[in-house]
Amino acid sequence: MKKSTYYSNFLLLIIILYLWIFINPTTSLIEEEEAATIGYGYSLQSVTIDSSGKALTAYLQLIKGTSIFGPDIKLLSLTARLETKDRLRIRISDAKKPRWEIPNDIIPRQSPNPLHRSLPENHLPPPLHHQSPSPSLLSDPTSDLIFTLHNTIPFGFAVSRRSSGDTLFDTTSTNLIFKDQYIELSSSLPPNTSNLYGIGEHTKSSFRLQHNQTLTLWNADIASANTDVNLYGSHPFYMDVRSPHGISHGVLLLNSNGMDVVYTGGTITYKVIGGIIDLYFFAGPTPETVMEQYTQLIGRPAPMPYWSFGFHQCRYGYKDVYDVENVVLNYEKAGIPLEVMWTDIDYMESYKDFTLDPINFPLDEMKKFVDKLHKNGQKYVLIIDPGISVDKTYPTYIRGMEVGIFIKRNGVPYLGVVWPGPTYFPDFLNPSSEIFWTNEIKIFHELLPVDGLWIDMNELSNFISSPSNPSSTIDDPPYKINNGGNKNPINDRTVAATSLHFGNVIEYNVHNLYGFLESRATNLALVNVTRKRPFVLSRSTFVGSGKYTAHWTGDNAASWDDMAYTIPGILNFGLFGVPMVGADICGFSGNTTEELCRRWIQLGAFYPFSRDHSEKGSSRQELYLWDSVAASARKVLKLRYKLLPYFYTLMYEAHSKGTPIARPLFFSFPEDTNTYGISSQFLLGTGVLISPVLKAGAVSVNAYFPSGNWFDLFNYSRSLSVKQGKYINLDAPPEHINVHIREGNILTMQGEAMTTQAARNTSFELLVAFSRKKISSYGEVFLDDGEDLEMGSGDGTKWSFITFKSGIVSSKLTLESKVLNEGFALSRKWIIDKVTILGLGSDFKKINGCELISKQERRKLAVKVGDTNNGFVVLEISKLSML
Ligand code: NOJ
Repeated sequence: MKKSTYYSNFLLLIIILYLWIFINPTTSLIEEEEAATIGYGYSLQSVTIDSSGKALTAYLQLIKGTSIFGPDIKLLSLTARLETKDRLRIRISDAKKPRWEIPNDIIPRQSPNPLHRSLPENHLPPPLHHQSPSPSLLSDPTSDLIFTLHNTIPFGFAVSRRSSGDTLFDTTSTNLIFKDQYIELSSSLPPNTSNLYGIGEHTKSSFRLQHNQTLTLWNADIASANTDVNLYGSHPFYMDVRSPHGISHGVLLLNSNGMDVVYTGGTITYKVIGGIIDLYFFAGPTPETVMEQYTQLIGRPAPMPYWSFGFHQCRYGYKDVYDVENVVLNYEKAGIPLEVMWTDIDYMESYKDFTLDPINFPLDEMKKFVDKLHKNGQKYVLIIDPGISVDKTYPTYIRGMEVGIFIKRNGVPYLGVVWPGPTYFPDFLNPSSEIFWTNEIKIFHELLPVDGLWIDMNELSNFISSPSNPSSTIDDPPYKINNGGNKNPINDRTVAATSLHFGNVIEYNVHNLYGFLESRATNLALVNVTRKRPFVLSRSTFVGSGKYTAHWTGDNAASWDDMAYTIPGILNFGLFGVPMVGADICGFSGNTTEELCRRWIQLGAFYPFSRDHSEKGSSRQELYLWDSVAASARKVLKLRYKLLPYFYTLMYEAHSKGTPIARPLFFSFPEDTNTYGISSQFLLGTGVLISPVLKAGAVSVNAYFPSGNWFDLFNYSRSLSVKQGKYINLDAPPEHINVHIREGNILTMQGEAMTTQAARNTSFELLVAFSRKKISSYGEVFLDDGEDLEMGSGDGTKWSFITFKSGIVSSKLTLESKVLNEGFALSRKWIIDKVTILGLGSDFKKINGCELISKQERRKLAVKVGDTNNGFVVLEISKLSML
């Protein structure tokens, strides 16, 4: 062999060896596992943008996969579409096979993209027309959202805001993983300016999401006294409020499968065990508009009846109907308003739904009791659970079996165990379930006309865990979500994932939807049976549940920490489109104390849904049991009842626009970045600030006040003038909670009373928190009969909406009302008999008159200089019509 040939052969060998080592197509397992984080992902195959420039379709070809969690899907389709000017949808799924997606009747959606169609097997998408690195854009001038698809290896996409250039979501530094049972999608976030809220349900000490945590979504009967673990509901939605101006957007991953959401601050990573990527971006730019856009997609919150804003009393463990009756009497004796009495599973015979315990809760006595409540203007709500007792003599079971309504596994109804012992669970995915459920509720309602239903244990909760079907990756998926904070099996104390629903849908895919579906069926049943606005309270929820139900935060403990955590819990549900939300006042498990219960009712009186509830075996905690608690309850509930028209108007706003009733401070003060981290105060509407005591022994509270003048709602002459937002140490003696109204707001109030019905018969008072900045103060009130099925739509004679504006016009203080729909107010002839004006201060001296201008009259009121009483003026007026 010639020397030169020898050398060239040697060189060739080295090159082959090099190629074999470094670009070997079969990588080792370790390398492949690394690919899960640094892997190769997908490349773009073709991109088509439709002529409108608002929709784009692309195919994504797997470059190289990873061996963990199953094989990768080779070809994906990606569609992006500006569905409205404020909403962008990005959908990624298997290009060749349909995968599980949330049915359209749950969240009605547009078809993903007119250009999209499933590719036939063996058919490859056309290669990218131009291999240039320039990205494809969806950038419609009417929208503030821009979608950019990067033709890089691997591909990536980003969503940005046109008006600021801010990047909202950016996957380009991470790689998409898409397998049958594992999808991973990650976005970088600017950790110093992005503030995230949402992704629940979890109990958290902080409303703003803290960095470096995993948020698991898998509905579970885990007591809310446990922090940072998955609880009863799943809402893969967050709001991102960007410093320093509070420009906000929302992001929803519409997916019902179990998932871990890993949030580091610099990234958010979704690790989902099924379904598809269906991402929605809501442009905002304010927190309110994000909510408006979000609830436009998922459904606006259901209107709640007026009475549901009264105070509720419940307990697990009431002995008998007399026990319950006594509670009602004791509230009356103590002079504490009680609107709704509740009974837990104790009323049932052997814990069977739609039955009454003949010994302790006999039908005759129950009827008399409910009748008495109704005569007194009060209401009654009962619990029902989804588990139907397996008992061949039980009519509900018999009827359920006849229509084959129960969830099945291995060909027979799935057998679980709940309160009654062995149970089957109705399949609310089955269209016949509505008839079945309505019929059961109807039969029961004919016996006992309850006013609302409380649906519990619907995660589903099961007292046993079924073993996995042998080698089933459905019962035992390759990626273990952090269920229960402990990577518990997904079958842990629920219905097995291999169970089957109507249409052969596996429980695995619809587990998180059970509470939603039961809420829908229960809401529809109540509508059919009562023809009145339904009241449903559900423990388990999903995206869109707010259109059917209210929610409470589940089994908290009677502890100071848990009381504090109710604020982030309630604010979260406002973001999830479930504005009617509360927490068990005085604490569910464990024995409360006089001081805790007193502080808790001071806070709970301002929850949108205000209910005292406790666990069997814990000490009793009705508000009249301690003198100091009773006195506080009278004081705070008196204010709540005076504010009922305001709560109800906020309900109307929630129903028409999706805005929460209880709101974080940044909703009204987005430019004040100090408000972003507040978890211990909240607003009702735009301008009523609740600053509770959350610590044992405390008699003062360090509360944050954004700039402006604030007036104490318990004592109008006490005001705070805040030039620049700051913490203020306020007195909070044992009987007191600080509640302030901010300048610029007008509250429509009514008188205090023992029931909402009685309160509605009192005349109105307008409370004007005068704005010194000469910007007029504003308020509104929505009026209807409180239980009509529609709220603010439909028959125009059945409701009214009036706005109030106050300001100074040529040295005259004016208060002007405008009627947007006069129907109802006209029929009731409601009147205002008092106008209280706060905050006139030194301006008052310059004012030489006050005028009330309404549709029906223009009235001059004599106001003399010196009329101010410690800074506020009360104008007693005779019979000014609301109109
Ligand atoms: C669990 C619920 O969360 C709780 O509120 C109720 O009292 C018990 N189930 C008993 O029904």
